[in-house]
Amino acid sequence: MADTHTPVRWQSRRAFILAVTGAAVGLGNIWRFPYITGENGGSAFLLQYVAFIVLLGLPVMMAEIMIGRTGRAGPLAALTQLARDNGRSRQWSKLAVFGGLTLFLILSFYAVVSGWSLAYLGKSINGDFVGLAAADVGAQFNGFLQDLPLMLGCHLAFLLMTMLVVARGVSAGLEKLNNLLMPLLYLLLLLLAGFAATTPGFGEALHWLFWPNPEALSWQATLDAMGHAFFTLAVGACALMAYGAYMPEEQSLPRAAVAVAVLDVVVALLAGIAIFAVVFSHGMEPAGGPGLMFVTLPVAFAEVPGGSLWLSAFFVLLVLATWTSSINLAEPLVAMLVDKQWPRPLAAAVVGGCVWMLGVLAALSFSLLSDWHPLGFIAVFDGKTLFDLLTSIPPDLFLPLGGLFIAWFAARGLTTEQIETALGSAFMARLWRVVVMWVSIPMLLAVLLITLYRW
Ligand code: PFF
Repeated sequence: MADTHTPVRWQSRRAFILAVTGAAVGLGNIWRFPYITGENGGSAFLLQYVAFIVLLGLPVMMAEIMIGRTGRAGPLAALTQLARDNGRSRQWSKLAVFGGLTLFLILSFYAVVSGWSLAYLGKSINGDFVGLAAADVGAQFNGFLQDLPLMLGCHLAFLLMTMLVVARGVSAGLEKLNNLLMPLLYLLLLLLAGFAATTPGFGEALHWLFWPNPEALSWQATLDAMGHAFFTLAVGACALMAYGAYMPEEQSLPRAAVAVAVLDVVVALLAGIAIFAVVFSHGMEPAGGPGLMFVTLPVAFAEVPGGSLWLSAFFVLLVLATWTSSINLAEPLVAMLVDKQWPRPLAAAVVGGCVWMLGVLAALSFSLLSDWHPLGFIAVFDGKTLFDLLTSIPPDLFLPLGGLFIAWFAARGLTTEQIETALGSAFMARLWRVVVMWVSIPMLLAVLLITLYRW
């Protein structure tokens, strides 16, 4: 089990759920969810996203944890060994490599946006937002994107924070800190959503988010909703397999997966409500793009008594959440190299270096490289910067594609007995298999194929 993910052994059911939640809750909930909801017309996106979580995200999440739990090893070792034991092709281990590539691409933009959060922590401590009108906060974000020393410095600092923990290979202390502080982040979001209820745009925000609006439906919204269901649950890149390896024997996998998914969706909804209440109260544009969180939260907190202190606390907690998610993105990559006998610090340095380089190019998409469209020769990607491509292709296409193979391997490559043991009962095993074979896999195939066809 040389490539297992983390040396922590989950001693309790709670520890397992908290650890998986640590990987799941991050920028996906607080930054990406609101902005793609905004770009895709609110409820037209949100309702599909919730459906995809239930019909695709959850069953595939169970598949992923199940493979790790049955193989009792990290992704590469678990897939290799299970394929061998069950007489399946050795090629299945490539799934872990594809997952690694996806994680690498995701981490490269994740670290950039985490760097923005770090910079915004500094700005809020500094009182940079005090007394600013909503429009000025927006202008400040645009200025920040041009401030290369600050932006790239924070990107580098964040990446160093992440890779140092991964290089040491022990994240038990951080895990504890995370478990202690994450409930505070949820509480703060709840408070913020509560305050949002007192603002004039609250009703409009709720209506826009939850009231079905068939006119806003688009294929892009469907594709984004599917991709985001995977992204937010950290499913589809084999990263969760390692967690399954350490799951306590007596723990119910389906129950744990449902707990994580519910918490994850609730956090996203709270963030969405808080952010869109600001948008509608101040006549801002819902489709504000990747800057949405950064231009609305300072305004949202300004309405709370003692706001700038709360804003700083919020960014501390957000940075912590993105830190644990980034460690979870980087660890499987480093573990794969460690498996090939690389010394861990060297593996962390090489992975960190590559992620840094790609991240710098992505970060420059808003200034020096704004006219660079790396896939411009393909019609659908014309006009997209590197940042645009990284934030859409790996989450929207690679994670669902990985998820498709993970689901197939779990449903067809594991024996019925193995599935029953992993899921805890014959009934759950049957239910899960029916859902995966008749709903999740056909749905995934349909969305991916229609997307390709439309291109
Ligand atoms: N789920 C994380 C988020 O919502 O921020 C992102 C993520 C982490 C995706 C780990 C994939 C992963 F393996």
